[in-house]
Amino acid sequence: MILEVSGINTYYGTSHILFDVALHMKRGELVCLLGRNGSGKTTTLRSIMGLTPPKRGTVMFYGEELRGRPSYYVAQKGIGYVPDNRLIFPDLTVRENLEIARKNSEHYQGEPWTVEKVYDTFPHLKNLEKHLGGHLSGGEQQMLTIGRTLMGNPELILLDEPVEGLAPLIVKDFSEKLIKLKEMGVTILFSEQNIRFSLAIADRAYVINKGRIEYEGTIEDLSRNEEIKQKYLMI
Ligand SMILES: Nc1ncnc2c1ncn2[C@@H]1O[C@H](COP(=O)(O)OP(=O)(O)O)[C@@H](O)[C@H]1O
Ligand SMILES: [Mg+2]
Repeated sequence: MILEVSGINTYYGTSHILFDVALHMKRGELVCLLGRNGSGKTTTLRSIMGLTPPKRGTVMFYGEELRGRPSYYVAQKGIGYVPDNRLIFPDLTVRENLEIARKNSEHYQGEPWTVEKVYDTFPHLKNLEKHLGGHLSGGEQQMLTIGRTLMGNPELILLDEPVEGLAPLIVKDFSEKLIKLKEMGVTILFSEQNIRFSLAIADRAYVINKGRIEYEGTIEDLSRNEEIKQKYLMI
């Protein structure tokens, strides 16, 4: 277990949003956090990162309590975060966006990421390396935000709705990229509203609804569980 989140309760002001959320990640897993719009996916990822710190509960990463730590500390330990808004530097080239993101992290165990290694993983970015970030399509920006996060040598990456708004063909290509990253040993937790994309690639799933984890299981079990799918997911 590299990440073990338990009993987290998170608030925005006085609004209680997450109720005793628990989840864990083993090294090398590709896991999805599924739930409808407004169910608490982003808040869960932000809670792990320390961007919206939980009031109660624990976020253990490599046996260390991260709850209450600032997000730069969480990132330094080895958790990379790709927010849902794909913020890249529009006036920097693709290569520059990657180069400035180079960092080490404490728990990363693989070969260090380089711009060339990102290009090997996302060959299309190499073709675009001199293009400005602001001129990329949505799918290209998403590849770049992930590439940029990988440049920080994360041991675990959190992706918030990575395929939202992307065309079906790009989603398919993106699925293959996530599988490739998994094969390279990257541990990934991603959030998603639609089960179809997740079914094809994830090992396990959590289903969140109104700030509570309502289901946890393998992707095969979830695909057979009509009740959970009907109740909580878009199918
Ligand atoms: N900054 C905020 N202030 C107050 N409430 C918020 C804020 N961000 C999100 N919420 C509320 O928290 C709940 C969970 O939101 P969120 O985690 O963004 O869900 P999801 O990512 O699954 O769509 C929603 O009811 C949303 O309205
Ligand atoms: Mg969200």
